[in-house]
Amino acid sequence: QDLTACNTLGLPSLATTLLRLRSPDQLPALCALAQAHRCVFVLGGGSNVVLGPRLEGLVIKVETRGIRLLEETDTAWIVEAQAGEVWHDFVTHCLDQGWFGLENLALIPGTVGAAPVQNIGAYGVELDQRFHSLVAWDLRAGRAIEMAAPDCGFAYRDSVFKYAEPGRWLIAAVRFRLPRPWQPVVTYPDLRQHPAVRALLTSATDEGAGAGNDALASLRTAGFGAESMRKAAERPGANIGAPFSGVSPRAIYEAVCEIRRRKLPDPAILGNAGSFFKNPVVTAASRDALLARYPGLVSYAQPGGSHYKLAAGWLIEQAGWKGRRLGQVGTHDRQALVVVNHGGAQAEDIVRLAHAIKSDVRARFGVELEQEPVQVDSTSCMSKSPKSL
Ligand code: EPU
Repeated sequence: QDLTACNTLGLPSLATTLLRLRSPDQLPALCALAQAHRCVFVLGGGSNVVLGPRLEGLVIKVETRGIRLLEETDTAWIVEAQAGEVWHDFVTHCLDQGWFGLENLALIPGTVGAAPVQNIGAYGVELDQRFHSLVAWDLRAGRAIEMAAPDCGFAYRDSVFKYAEPGRWLIAAVRFRLPRPWQPVVTYPDLRQHPAVRALLTSATDEGAGAGNDALASLRTAGFGAESMRKAAERPGANIGAPFSGVSPRAIYEAVCEIRRRKLPDPAILGNAGSFFKNPVVTAASRDALLARYPGLVSYAQPGGSHYKLAAGWLIEQAGWKGRRLGQVGTHDRQALVVVNHGGAQAEDIVRLAHAIKSDVRARFGVELEQEPVQVDSTSCMSKSPKSL
């Protein structure tokens, strides 16, 4: 069974057995089948995996569909989606229905079921901030369990599912809690500076702040610095909606789509798996030492202030890797954090490139990059956590 079209990096990969899960009713029988296989791998949209050329075992491709509103209260919409729903189509559907809150996560490749595994995030919102619960099947025990956020161990691009026994869990459905009233999240610089969002922000803030001031200046005039905006948004019952009344969920959705289309390659045209490395988190002391040597360093203070997240794309670009090729693979010329397949690459080409980038960044900055997509072992069909590679 050829999986080349089932992974967005477009790597050639053959599975001994491929089963397409189209209905939750198939799950009990699927558990029996999974128990008969030594190796099982659960595949969603294939947008966060590096697949080896031969996967010996059972590959389950989750293709279940269905979206429904479970509950609507004054404080939230609770929406459930089956795992095989395409993430971006789900986001679009929610927006069309008036269930707002996922617009910052538009155009992320992959499926709903894969989204909690890496706790997808973009433009100031992470999945765990909109998460209610999920239904996961324990394929070994043959039963389903419901998991709330604390059970999932969400962290930056991380969850318990990344460390679980390979092929044990299948996420069948995910429920989202979308808070009401809707509050726009426009804290991410690229989004705030997008012309459409900026124009709306400027018109919605203190008119007297004056034409010519940029949106950020207007917000500051209105008493909303980036930090106070974040704190205000986190305070229960806080209402920072008023100064943003001009920004609609659709405007954010469209701005996010436009930014992503401009910066990130479309996997249908150029094979890729989104960001290939996590943005590394370092101590404030390490960041200060780096900043003294490299004044252009891009870093973001983490809550508490003792640690900083560094922009891995910046480190990779400075190490000379932006747009550079190594055989059939390379990094994207507009976003060095994205590894691309120029055509005809195998998993081993990706591994070689990742190794070269990591060692150059380590040599230059003393910073260790951690691979984000899951590496699926070429012979055993066992997925390994990148941390253990
Ligand atoms: N930068 C460079 N050179 C590059 C790339 C980036 O100097 O080649 C600098 C940019 O100028 C900017 C900073 O790095 O100052 C951050 O870049 P960007 O806004 O593109 O975001 P990122 O940190 O590279 C992260 C996520 C993306 C997400 C964006 C927006 C990770 C690993 N990646 O990228 O997520 O879309 O922020 O929120 O956290 C993904 O996970 O697959 C993904 C695409």
